Amino acid sequence: MIELSEREFNIFRNIVQQLLGIRLSDSKKVLVSSRLFSRLRALNLNSFTEYINYLGGSNGNSELINFVDKITTNETYFFREEKHFEYLKTIYFPSINQQKFSSDGIRIWSACCSSGEEPYSIALTALSAYKSNNNLNIHILATDISTKVLTIAQNAIYPEISLNKFPHWVIKNFYEPISEKVISQFPFLQKGQSYIHLNKEVSNMVKLKKLNLMSERYPLKSKLDIIFCRNAMIYFDDKAKDYVINKFYDHLKDDGLFFIGHSENLFNYSDKFKLITNTIYQKINKKT
Ligand SMILES: C[S@@+](CC[C@H](N)C(=O)[O-])C[C@H]1O[C@@H](n2cnc3c(N)ncnc32)[C@H](O)[C@@H]1O
Repeated sequence: MIELSEREFNIFRNIVQQLLGIRLSDSKKVLVSSRLFSRLRALNLNSFTEYINYLGGSNGNSELINFVDKITTNETYFFREEKHFEYLKTIYFPSINQQKFSSDGIRIWSACCSSGEEPYSIALTALSAYKSNNNLNIHILATDISTKVLTIAQNAIYPEISLNKFPHWVIKNFYEPISEKVISQFPFLQKGQSYIHLNKEVSNMVKLKKLNLMSERYPLKSKLDIIFCRNAMIYFDDKAKDYVINKFYDHLKDDGLFFIGHSENLFNYSDKFKLITNTIYQKINKKT
């Protein structure tokens, strides 16, 4: 294994902080080294300094995609922090009146969606709450910075074992097992493993896009009723966290809801968001 020097680690740290807003503490050095080592091997490079030069060279922009894929932590699973989905099913959706559906519908954004389990859990919750997708005017935008996880989300194929995380109330006709023959057509699926495929009714509700939350402009057509940004801001430095929270505030409709991860909080934003229940906040509207 090639050693990562302090100087090289600091260069990677700066790139990650400036590009993604993510703060890498000293304790992340071993992790960074092992994650990036596979890129050195793939590119036939002999040191991390060579890799840094490669990133700064003519192939830098395309290599940055692999760099981001390696550096981001993408852990996620279906119905993670299940109470959020129960809230949607038992409180939020029943409170929506028909008029809202027939006008602009409901717009939900899963920012930092990773491999799709979060936005598809929202879709499955809506479908289970309404028993079908007949005239369901619910639009879920799902974004992430990592190309690798967005490709997984696009396929909407997951190991069958993921079903263990599904709450009992999820209606079962929105996914189906995949045959061995289909598995063999996808090189990224492992033979001998069982998978499920989410039906078109589910996947059609979710629109996937690549978006860096550090971008100056978020390309969103209209304001959102709900934003999910869970278990991502925890990796951000204070400046990046402040930046995205203010952006989310601006992109939420009046009274819109903001769902964050259970180890995150909005204590410093009590003038912008009020806590409704555990880690679910509501936008405090600007006084006019
Ligand atoms: C730990 S996952 C959380 C996934 C999901 N929200 C959940 O709670 O299960 C964090 C995700 O944030 C994404 N991410 C990190 N920095 C980002 C940035 N600056 N812009 C957009 N996505 C980012 C990562 O690629 C990763 O997929």
